[in-house]
Amino acid sequence: MNSAPVISEILRAGAPMAMLRLIERAASQILAGELVAIPTETVYGLAADATSDRAVAKVFEAKGRPAFNPLIIHVTGLEMARRYAAFSPLAEKLAAAFWPGPLTLVLPRKKDSGLSLLVSAGLDAIALRAPNSVIARQLIEMCDRPLAAPSANRSGSISPTTAEHVRDSLGDRIRFILDGGPCRVGVESTIVKIDGDRAILLRPGGTPRDEIERLIGKTLEAPAGGKVEAPGMMASHYAPSAPLRLNAEAPRESEAFLGFGAVAASGDAALNLSEKGDLVEAAANLFSHLRRLDALCAEKKLSGIAAAPIPMEGLGEAINDRLARAAAPKT
Ligand code: TXA
Ligand code: MG
Repeated sequence: MNSAPVISEILRAGAPMAMLRLIERAASQILAGELVAIPTETVYGLAADATSDRAVAKVFEAKGRPAFNPLIIHVTGLEMARRYAAFSPLAEKLAAAFWPGPLTLVLPRKKDSGLSLLVSAGLDAIALRAPNSVIARQLIEMCDRPLAAPSANRSGSISPTTAEHVRDSLGDRIRFILDGGPCRVGVESTIVKIDGDRAILLRPGGTPRDEIERLIGKTLEAPAGGKVEAPGMMASHYAPSAPLRLNAEAPRESEAFLGFGAVAASGDAALNLSEKGDLVEAAANLFSHLRRLDALCAEKKLSGIAAAPIPMEGLGEAINDRLARAAAPKT
C-alpha cells in the first residue's frame, strides 16, 4: 500500500457554500478509495467507502488496528440502513427513536448487502449508525454509499474530538481532515446488539442506558459470559501515555488532576471536566482534557493523571467506562 509520507490538510470552511465544496472534495476522495477524517457528533471518524475492501483495508493500516476489529458503518438513516441489515421490530423502534444520534445497532447482515466483508471482519452481524452531523450526512449522501468510520486515531490512543486531535494522531498518514469544530457529544456511540427481541449493551456511550431502557421497557442485557463481542471493549483502550489513577479526591505531589464538579484542584496541571458537575459537558470535554493533561505530564515530567470520581448516572456510565479503560494496564 501507499507508503509515501503525507501531510494532512485540515479543510475548514468560512461559509456554508464553501463547506459544501469541501464536502464535494472529500466525496471524490472517498469514491476514489481514499480516506478522509470527518466530524460526527460523537468523535471524529476516519471514513472510507464501506463497499470497498481495499478502502476498508486502508483504514486498518492507517489506524494500526488489529485486522479483526470490525468497523461501524455510517448511513443517513433507517431507510438506507435497511438495505444492509435485517431490522427486527425492536431494532426499528430504537432506530426510529434515536437516529440520527449516538446509538449504534449491531444487526444481522443482509446477504446481498454489497458491503465489504472486511468491514465487519467476517462476522454475520454489522454495526450501523446514522450520525447526527450535517457534514457527515451530506458526505454520505454525496457519496451515495455507506461509510465505514472508526474513531480517527491510532488504535489504542485517545479518540479525537477536534480536527487538530486527528492531525496530531494521523497527520502523517491521511490527506484530508474535514473540520466541523469540536464534537458536541465527545464520547463514542452506545453500541447495542439486537438479537430478535433481545437487546445487549456492547459498549456504553453517548446515548444513556436509561433512555434506551425507558423506550424498550426492559433492561439492557450484558454480553454473555464476558465474551469480547465488540473488540473495542478490550480492557486497555483510549489510553493516554501517562498512568491514570481513578476516583481520586485530590492529586498527589507530582500528579496532574482531572476534576469534576466540586472535586477540583488548582494550578496549571489541573482541568475540570465540568465545574457545574454536568455530565453532558463532562463527556464533551473528556478526551480533549485527557490529551492536554497527558501532554502536560510529558512536558512537566509529572508521574501521572489522577481523576475525580464521576457519578454512574446518564453519560457517567460511558465516561467511567472510558476512564477505566484508559487506566487499565496496557497489553
Ligand atoms: O461514535 C462512534 O461510534 C464513532 C464515530 C466515528 O461514529 N466510531 C467508533 O468506531 O467509535 P470504533 O471503530 O472506534 O468502534 C467501533 C466499535 C468497536 O468496539 C467494534 O468492535 C464494534 O464497534 N463493532 C463494529 N462492528 C461490530 C459487529 N459487527 N459486531 C460487534 N461489534 C462491532
Ligand atoms: Mg475507537
